Amino acid sequence: MTKDLTAPGASGNPSGNPSDVTAVVAQQPDYTRYFSDQAGHVWLNTAHQGPMPEAAVRAAVGAAHEKATPYRIPDAAFTERPEELRALLADFVGGRPDEIVLGDSTSHGLNLIAYGLPMRAGDEVLCVEGDYPATVLPWLAQRQRGAGVRFVRRDRHGRLDPERVRRALAPRTRVLAVTWVDSFTGAAADLRALGEICHTAGVLLVVNGSQAVGARPVDVAATPVDALVSCGYKWMCGPYGTGFAWLSPALTELLDPRRVYWLAQQRGRGLEHMRSYTIENRGVRGLDVFCPADFLDTAAWTSAVGLLGGLGVHNIHAHGQRLVQRLLDAVDPELYEVVGPQEPEERSGLVVLAGRRGPVDGAVSALAAAGVHVAVREGNIRLSPHLFNTGEHIDRALEVLNSPDD
Ligand SMILES: Cc1ncc(COP(=O)(O)O)c(C=O)c1O
Repeated sequence: MTKDLTAPGASGNPSGNPSDVTAVVAQQPDYTRYFSDQAGHVWLNTAHQGPMPEAAVRAAVGAAHEKATPYRIPDAAFTERPEELRALLADFVGGRPDEIVLGDSTSHGLNLIAYGLPMRAGDEVLCVEGDYPATVLPWLAQRQRGAGVRFVRRDRHGRLDPERVRRALAPRTRVLAVTWVDSFTGAAADLRALGEICHTAGVLLVVNGSQAVGARPVDVAATPVDALVSCGYKWMCGPYGTGFAWLSPALTELLDPRRVYWLAQQRGRGLEHMRSYTIENRGVRGLDVFCPADFLDTAAWTSAVGLLGGLGVHNIHAHGQRLVQRLLDAVDPELYEVVGPQEPEERSGLVVLAGRRGPVDGAVSALAAAGVHVAVREGNIRLSPHLFNTGEHIDRALEVLNSPDD
């Protein structure tokens, strides 16, 4: 049974308007109310995918019903709905709508940058050794254009030392491509320090924020990055097949779209002028994924971003970090090593545990048997609590983790 949480008065949020949610949260920071009952399961795996809020589920159902009765979908919806999402995403990261590319994944945004950036033979991209493949592969593919890729190392806790990056930059380095929060350790890169180093050296900083955006506040207007790309289906709690890229206007200007979408070209001309074959620079809208209206996904994601934005990313971050602290405080240090950094400014919503007494298979099976869902990455256990989790969820995980399986 699902609760109707946007019904007036049902959640203590009388208007159902996400911006009013902030007041509700101040009284009672219970985010579980916005999500479906998990039937006794504990989902500690947002780093893999986040659950869609109930309001987003209803939005998707509404969009499906519209498609069943297409006379209800006005032509204007094909542009208005993507624009509504674009504006919400811009607000969410502190940018402007004209800086947001709508995507279907992280890879959409990273590929359009890697393939769209003019490169000359001998140009170079600096990547991070052991980084997530989505952040590295689009640049490796540029070797066909003669561009080289070099790697800089993290330390064993996943920290990326800005000084090491500075030393690794070379005169032909055009781009530093990094993942903000590392999937394998949970270490968070210092975007400000990296950005300042890059910009002093005339290097673009392209950031994969998929393990951060939605859980970690960011203000792109005040952070020296050139691109921040994210999927929508993890910490942003959107449906699968969603993503976006924030691009600085200067970077957008540099990019060759490499493809052309008739509907993006149609914008501003109206559907009466379809056979005008002129191709114009449409800025970010010319870089959008094709069919950006994608009503079902767009409706659900718009709803999720609106909810999270209304709740406030600072509040969501504080809640997540309280849960992370509870986990770090109580996990048995004789049984597990916390792989990533534990200092608040260097850690994230991902806690990665290595077994001190050998492989973690026993603990993973016991967690699964107890209905506690985590990920195993590179032989380590990864727990990633988010806004819908509670202290009790962490305690259920701890109870299993701290009981050796002998
Ligand atoms: C750091 C990072 N980037 C990207 C992705 C997913 O990429 P995409 O949205 O292109 O499938 C993941 C998924 O786990 C990830 O952890």
